Amino acid sequence: MLDQLKQLQAEALSAFTAAKDTNDLEAARVAYLGRKGRLSEIMPQLASLSNDEKRLAGQTANEVKAAIEGAFIAAQARIESTVAGANAERAWIDMTLPGNRPSVGHTHLTTQAIADLTEIFAKLGFNRQRHPEVDWDYYAFEALNMPKEHPARDDWETFFVADPDGKDVQTGELGKVVLTPHTSNAQVREMKKGALPIRMINISKCYRRQISARHLPVFHQIEGLMIDGNVTITDLKGVIDHFVKNFFGPNTKTRLRPYHFRFTEPSFELDISCTVCNGEGSVQGTKCKLCKAGWLELGGAGMVHTNVLKAGGLDPKKYTGFAFGWGVERTAMMRGGLKLDDIRMMYKNDLRFLKQF
Ligand code: PHE
Repeated sequence: MLDQLKQLQAEALSAFTAAKDTNDLEAARVAYLGRKGRLSEIMPQLASLSNDEKRLAGQTANEVKAAIEGAFIAAQARIESTVAGANAERAWIDMTLPGNRPSVGHTHLTTQAIADLTEIFAKLGFNRQRHPEVDWDYYAFEALNMPKEHPARDDWETFFVADPDGKDVQTGELGKVVLTPHTSNAQVREMKKGALPIRMINISKCYRRQISARHLPVFHQIEGLMIDGNVTITDLKGVIDHFVKNFFGPNTKTRLRPYHFRFTEPSFELDISCTVCNGEGSVQGTKCKLCKAGWLELGGAGMVHTNVLKAGGLDPKKYTGFAFGWGVERTAMMRGGLKLDDIRMMYKNDLRFLKQF
């Protein structure tokens, strides 16, 4: 029996040493240490031995069992660490490699311009106010010195909203509702708040029945209004100058050109020196592609008409003021020195275009 035990130990040890994976290991464990394994098979032989032999054989059997169990544990540790090593090799990550940068978006060209306009005017105390984008005909036209049926209204290709129950706020008669064709409806609305002096800007969407390479049916305008005891054209010029230099660059010049609006008197068109040719009209001998003779048209302006002040409940003998207004999309393009063949490009959501700004 002693020989059998020694033989068994040698076989078991080499089986555990040879085990390459958990399957081999389990097979060897069952074969040598299992309840019906080789060691259990030998043990009954103890019964037929004399007492002295029994003691020796029993002791040897215990030693053999311990040796086999030791071999099992060693093999188990060896195989586990091999498996872990293989896993680590497979799942290995180089933490020092640069990561994939998530793509970061940015606001639209128009939104950027709105933010900049707001900030620049805020520095002069012009705060952004909100006024309706769907408004009474009264605020869009009548209060601005354009009575019903006045031909000047034709300059604003207006969308009317069908609203059979609308009441004209002034007269109580049935009135028309419009999608604001300009931001000037803010003028009388702001005056009617009754808080003076007024220094406000109103930036909002405008709607006109027009669509072409140069016109959008929905676009943005900025309206500016200042009213106080003694506001003059000089103040208008100074405020516009401040804006133009901050928005287009410190070398940009401003020009007021006589014009006509029903709601301002006198009225002007506002020009700025061209952002591409610096007002020269040409670049290295070639005619500038962006401007006409060095100037770009920005928008309209003027001293608030007395009839408009009256509509706002203000006494024209006590108060004077100026107003200005222009398109935000145009302004954004002018700043970039851009001459788009088609202004609709701004809202096509083509990333190749939008990413450039
Ligand atoms: N509302 C005018 C337009 O849409 C611009 C303007 C605003 C002119 C304020 C004078 C004063 O063209």
